[in-house]
Amino acid sequence: MANQILSGKKGIIFGALNEQSIAWKVAEACVAEGASIVLTNAPVAARVGQTEELAKKLNAPLIYADVTKMEDLENLVTGATEALGGQLDFVLHSVGMSLNVRKKIPYTELNYDFMHTTLDISAMSFHRLMQVLWNKDAMKEWGSIVALTYIAAQRTFPDYSEMAEAKALLESFARSFGYHYGKHKKVRVNTISQSPTMTTAGSGVGGFDAFFNYADVMSPLGNASAQSCADYCVSLFSDYTKMVTMQNLFHDGGFSYTGIASDLMENFKNNG
Ligand SMILES: NC(=O)c1ccc[n+]([C@@H]2O[C@H](COP(=O)([O-])OP(=O)(O)OC[C@H]3O[C@@H](n4cnc5c(N)ncnc54)[C@H](O)[C@@H]3O)[C@@H](O)[C@H]2O)c1
Repeated sequence: MANQILSGKKGIIFGALNEQSIAWKVAEACVAEGASIVLTNAPVAARVGQTEELAKKLNAPLIYADVTKMEDLENLVTGATEALGGQLDFVLHSVGMSLNVRKKIPYTELNYDFMHTTLDISAMSFHRLMQVLWNKDAMKEWGSIVALTYIAAQRTFPDYSEMAEAKALLESFARSFGYHYGKHKKVRVNTISQSPTMTTAGSGVGGFDAFFNYADVMSPLGNASAQSCADYCVSLFSDYTKMVTMQNLFHDGGFSYTGIASDLMENFKNNG
């Protein structure tokens, strides 16, 4: 697509673990559109992921940071603004993890220590990140901050477990911090509610394959891919969406407003 609509813009991209990661596609799209970026991921990603490979390919500095640690985020934001030579135009928060889901603990028996960690990594990290950006005055006026979320924040999807609560909190932080950031610094904050996508985090959810296929049939346009999510992120980082803030934006091929798909109705017809 590449129309250089991010020409001269600077940003931080969280969460590119491997080629399947949504953030991987976003990083590639931003650079193709003319942006300069810094990549970041959890220190453990150095062992289990390929973030370094992407950093080399895009010629982007890579600064590891655990999103649960204030000092890591402070170090990241200072390092990124130094490396990029000034304030930031955009930031993508593409981070999520649930220990209860990973350990396949039923929703009615959740472990609360694990839940603390889930909320800390997947939601509170968004507030923490914005607080660091705010305190360091690291965002340019009319800058754009985006986090990725899922429709389980609004409607129940039993296998998504406690990540539903994490996403509800994440979306609420976008609205609440978005107010302050808009009012005081003209910075916009939104969440993109993405279709099920075949990634490491996505396929950690129980029965993901069946669920992916269900959502695909239920969405008139089909599931939105990681690549199309990247295009949408680019539009939100661009100057074409300057007045959009505090929104949860569905990027799901129409899934969120579809009651029933005609293809699925066939299964319920009584042919007798
Ligand atoms: N895959 C889907 O179906 C789907 C759908 C809607 C929303 N999302 C959201 O998209 C975002 C990106 O997920 P993805 O699907 O690309 O999977 P992914 O596994 O590629 O990305 C998740 C990232 O979070 C990082 N992370 C985990 N703990 C961290 C920590 N403590 N500090 C810093 N980083 C940490 C991981 O290293 C990884 O890079 C997540 O917020 C996810 O919930 C995914």
